[in-house]
Amino acid sequence: MTAPHPTAPATDTDLVPDGHAVVPPWWRQAVVYQVYPRSFADADGDGLGDIAGIVSRADYLAELGVDAVWLSPFYPSALADGGYDVADYRDVDPRLGTLEDLDALVTALHTRGIKVVVDIVPNHTSDQHRWFQEALAAGRGSAARERYIFREGTGPDGSLPPTDWESTFGGPAWTRVADGQWYLHNFAAEQPDLNWDHREVRDDFLTTLRFWSDRGVDGFRIDVAHMLTKDLSEPLPSAAELKALPRDGNHPLHDRDDVHEVYAEWRTVLNSYDPPRAAVAEAWVDSARVPLYARPESLGQSFNFDLLLAEPDAAQFRRLVTDNLELASRSGSSSTWVLSNHDVVRHATRYGLPRGDGSRDPRERGADWLLRGGPEEELDRDLGLRLARAATLFVLGLPGSTYLYQGEELGLHEVADIPADRRQDPTFARTGGAHVGRDGCRVPLPWTAEGGSFGFGAGGAHLPQPAWFARHAADVQDGDPDSTLTLYRRALALRRTLQTAERLEWVGTGREDVVHYVRPHGWHVVTNTGTEPYRVAGDLERLLASVPGDGPDVPGGSTAWFRSRRSSAGL
Ligand code: GLC
Repeated sequence: MTAPHPTAPATDTDLVPDGHAVVPPWWRQAVVYQVYPRSFADADGDGLGDIAGIVSRADYLAELGVDAVWLSPFYPSALADGGYDVADYRDVDPRLGTLEDLDALVTALHTRGIKVVVDIVPNHTSDQHRWFQEALAAGRGSAARERYIFREGTGPDGSLPPTDWESTFGGPAWTRVADGQWYLHNFAAEQPDLNWDHREVRDDFLTTLRFWSDRGVDGFRIDVAHMLTKDLSEPLPSAAELKALPRDGNHPLHDRDDVHEVYAEWRTVLNSYDPPRAAVAEAWVDSARVPLYARPESLGQSFNFDLLLAEPDAAQFRRLVTDNLELASRSGSSSTWVLSNHDVVRHATRYGLPRGDGSRDPRERGADWLLRGGPEEELDRDLGLRLARAATLFVLGLPGSTYLYQGEELGLHEVADIPADRRQDPTFARTGGAHVGRDGCRVPLPWTAEGGSFGFGAGGAHLPQPAWFARHAADVQDGDPDSTLTLYRRALALRRTLQTAERLEWVGTGREDVVHYVRPHGWHVVTNTGTEPYRVAGDLERLLASVPGDGPDVPGGSTAWFRSRRSSAGL
């Protein structure tokens, strides 16, 4: 077993007024690795990843050098939305294991110095959840229906939905039940929205937070954190009216100010533990409103998706980092950096597609490319991976925490050629195939170049793996000094020794396509997103780079880390 990581050094921002150093909360500058459990490792060979599979790879995670693992949902689920349709928040999907297996996973990770974050999905349950089944059985006007959002239909016989709202995954946001009432679902029909005005709903999630905290979980990732509370007073607005309403805290569905009453209660529970449990919001809201979620009296941290939406472009990177550090300082939290997750086209692929004219976000271009069957001639795989490695080293140097998504350390590209009858994302079916959805980043990982499912498990893989996965397999990259896996391992190990106060300063480069920042104690990060090499000035020792090389030159499409030979605590 790999030895536990040394504790990160206290930083000079952590001096309390009497001059004593305090150790900052672990999450402020953590590297958090997202595991999508059903696609990580399959111990029992049923084609679906499981908890024992993750345990079997605990050493891999320790060797990678991550500070925490975020587990996407592993709860009982009919898998209408990859597990984000939760049938029981306080249990484990029997296909993935048992609560005891989960305890064993927490222990296996803790023993290796790795924290555990679990996903909480509070906007909606699965339609298989006991509450929803009760609501269906109990009928209109019943107390059981109050936990959800049931309404009568419109039209002479109520056969039209209450509004013309569309669900996020396409298709109507209302579904009719046998007795004629309709229920609201902002996502798939199998994901009925909960009624957050209901005290029992609120209390039940407090129980869930305690349940996992008591089991030793260190933090929570809160799914669509900005949508829980709603103002559904009549008359309900039309879709067009909804769209036109400002998102200023009073919008009927999005980012309402009153959602923070919910999180204030959660924070009280989370702070009743020692150490307090962490939470990070998945809140797709206007930048200026992100700090509301990141405040210490709310969830404490919030995802910043700006880099995920950006081109691999030095000038954009610099602007977005400056903006987000400022936003984080407004809330007193640290910023987060995300390039990939289970909902978007992998960043190696986004960066390998032809650049747009800046009018559309790269996710959409990635989605278009997928839709057209991922024409291979449009994807420059090498360039995409080269820029992805550069971007990763860029974010790993930044103050704050970085969220990595499983497989990016293997340099994986999106899988485009998944046959229609194997697609699982509800987006695909709900849009009649007009959007292929997110399966391409959720294909089970290749652990070995040989073997039926590339070492994922003894059986098959629940999403088909392409032949090119063999080149990316972890066992092929292990020990190869130039592999992406080795780069991630080296970067995370070095980061641990270089990590310092949550500050940076920009250093002028005289070039729009080259960005250079320095952290306290002389940790320099230089990213060149252009094509011409850049020579860095100063008495700097090169520590690591995303492409082979040495000396002060930073080639186009690469990032290098340096240390000042005359470092001091200041910048
Ligand atoms: C979040 C999740 C996504 C899920 C949706 C509905 O955006 O990241 O995967 O489909 O919420 O729960």
